[in-house]
Order: sequence, then C-alpha cells, then structure tokens
Amino acid sequence: MSPMTVLVTGGAGFIGSHTCVELLEHGHEVVVVDDHSNSAPEALERVAKIAGRPVTAYRADLRDRSALDAVFKAHPVDAVIHFAAKKAVGESVEIPVTYYDINVGGTTALLSAMQAHGVHRLVFSSSCSIYGDATKVPLTETDPAAPTNPYASTKWICEQLLADMCRRLPELSVLALRYFNPVGAHPCGLLGEDPRGIPNNIMPYLAQVAVGRRERLSVFGDDYPTPDGTGVRDYIHVMDVAEGHRCALEHLDDEKGMRVFNLGTGVGSSVLDLVNAFARACGRPVPYEVTGRRAGDVAELVADPRAVAAAWGWTAKRDLGVMCRDAWRFQELNPSGYAAG
Ligand code: NAD
Ligand code: WQD
Repeated sequence: MSPMTVLVTGGAGFIGSHTCVELLEHGHEVVVVDDHSNSAPEALERVAKIAGRPVTAYRADLRDRSALDAVFKAHPVDAVIHFAAKKAVGESVEIPVTYYDINVGGTTALLSAMQAHGVHRLVFSSSCSIYGDATKVPLTETDPAAPTNPYASTKWICEQLLADMCRRLPELSVLALRYFNPVGAHPCGLLGEDPRGIPNNIMPYLAQVAVGRRERLSVFGDDYPTPDGTGVRDYIHVMDVAEGHRCALEHLDDEKGMRVFNLGTGVGSSVLDLVNAFARACGRPVPYEVTGRRAGDVAELVADPRAVAAAWGWTAKRDLGVMCRDAWRFQELNPSGYAAG
C-alpha cells in the first residue's frame, strides 16, 4: 500500500512505541501525540534509533483541543491509531471520573478534530476486559460485553460511541481491536514495557523479580477451576500486536463503518506456565508464593482469533517462550527501565 501519515496517540507507551517502529519500518510517516503521563520521551528516541528514521512528536494532552487542532493543521493525517488512555483496572475503581474524562473525553476530542480536518480512518485500542467475567472460552467478538470495572466500561462506551458515529457519518472507517494480554518487547532489547511504580501486570512484575528489583511474585490464587488452579490468560507478543495494527491500517479501506476484532493467540497459559517459561528464558528460578485471589480477577480469558485471521490472514506468530525471552532481554539490558537511558 502507499505510505500514509499516521497520527499515533499514546505513541510513546508500551504498545504505541512498538507500533511506531513497525509503521516506520514499513515506510509510513508517524506523528505522535502523547502527554507522557505514563511514558518516557526516551521511548521515542529509541523508536527512531531502531527504525533509523525520525519520529515527529508532540507533548500534549489529547483533550487539549487547540493543541490537537495544531497537530492536524501541521500534518496531512491519513489515519489515526488511538492508544492514549489510562489502563490500570484497580486505579479506575479509585478515580473513575478521571478514567471517563481521559478515555472517553479523549476519544471525543480526537473525533472532533478528525471531523474538523476531514480524517475518516481510525484504529481504536479496545480490550478483552470488556467481556468481563466471561462464562465461556474462547471468546468471539459476538459474545456479550459485560464490563466489571470503570476502565473496561470506558472501552465499551468508546466502542459504542464509535459504532454510533459510524452509523451517522458514512464516510468513517473504524477498526476496534480488542487486545488480550500484550507482553514481551522488541527483540533488540531497546524497547519494552516500563511501568511506573509497582507493576500491576504479571509480566513486568516477573521481570523485575528476575532482575532482583523485587523479592518474589505473588501468585494471585491457585484455586481457580483451571488445570493447575491459577488464572489462565491469552498472552500475545507486543510485536504481534504492533504488526496487527499495521495490518489494520492496510485494511481500513476494505469497507466503511465499524468493525471489531479480537487480537489474541487463542492459546491460554496459566500463571504457573508463565512463571516456568520465564525461568527458562532467564536461566534461573523466579521466586514466587501463592497468595489469595486478587479482587475482580477472572479464571480464564482466551481469544477466539479466527475472525481477524479470516478477514486479513493475520495471526499472532510468537509463542510464550519468545514473549518471555524478549521481555527478559529488555529487563536485563534496562534494569531500571528507561530511567537510566
Ligand atoms: P501505556 O500506558 O503504556 O500507553 C498509553 C500512552 O498514552 C502513554 O504513553 C501515556 O503517556 C499516553 N496518554 C495517556 N493519557 C493521555 C492523554 N490524555 N493525552 C495524551 N497521551 C496520553 O499503555 P499500553 O499498554 O501501551 O496501552 C495502549 C492502549 O491499549 C490503551 O488504550 C490501553 O487501554 C489498551 N490496552 C492495553 C492492554 C495492555 O494490557 N497493555 C490490553 C488491552 C488494551
Ligand atoms: C494476568 C494473570 C492474575 C499479577 C489486565 C487488564 C485487562 C487488560 C490486560 C488492558 C491473572 C495473575 C498478576 C501478579 C499474578 N489490559 N497475576 N500476580 O488482569 O489478565 O488483565 O491486562 O486492557 O484489562 O485487567 O492481566 O497481567 O494483571 O494478570 O498472579 O502480580 O496473572 O491474577 O491471572 P489481567 P495481569
């Protein structure tokens, strides 16, 4: 396809930065808007280094309409990939209004700017969390949404408002991608997941235990109705997610309107599967203890990834071993994350 100018909101974050590399390496121009509320500008320096091409970046809050307007005025944006959001489930229960403001308000601010500047193509970051306490696995896109926390609700509300926009504005083409559990890092070790404070998610926590920054992993429950009693998730390599976004761009013009796809592998792994795979990747045991269940956790979430495979021929290629190998390489080379960069 011919190169596009792609506005990437939240492009300095975990998934956004890997996607920027993928887009640059495929000849697209990338313009990032990120307020760095959960990322380091250093990530974008590294993106440019890996891709061998510069990234145009603006430090701005998505809800700052005049800043956004200036970005659209300065660049001939062909399509937008909208990653910018707050994503911590526990925090969303503490400060729900902030989550609605940033995640939903940020999306409407973006849509207004797109409309004002005649931009009609959007890829939206949705989440498996919209399925809530799923009663069956694997999950297909037609399974009901039942969000159980404000974060997941913001994602579901955004999906609904985007679907409504598409019904009312026939020129729009929107792809909502429901990621399952993105993990791993760029294989070169320069780019990875660098959460602020104590990691909420298991993979960065495991990596920090392995590198000696934390004592041991707490395994949140071993009494779930799963093969080994620990929670089962569909971990997907962030490079597969990044490639999925490049593929999405290539398929935005297939049809107008709203389409929704799961991005997962279809393979479920338990917490203990992950701990063991990580220990193999880093060549040492990773200390853990089983503690109580974490409030709000579900037993099992696994994607049925067949819809996107049928539509685009896209499937995730990297297995759990590669996910752990790459997460470990980033952690080992950057023991304090981007801070020392
Ligand atoms: P991340 O926090 O690493 O990246 C989000 C980026 O958006 C950060 O760089 C942050 O600084 C920026 N941002 C936040 N609020 C902003 C605002 N108001 N204006 C401008 N920039 C802002 O998160 P991630 O893991 O890369 O997730 C990207 C997207 O994917 C999010 O929408 C998230 O909800 C969604 N998602 C993530 C996961 C996951 O497990 N990582 C799973 C499913 C969906
Ligand atoms: C994975 C498994 C835990 C930490 C979250 C969001 C979801 C989506 C993906 C954004 C579970 C167990 C965890 C730990 C553990 N993100 N665990 N010890 O909760 O599946 O999904 O990220 O959209 O919305 O909720 O991911 O990495 O936190 O947990 O035992 O220290 O690891 O119980 O079984 P989760 P996670």
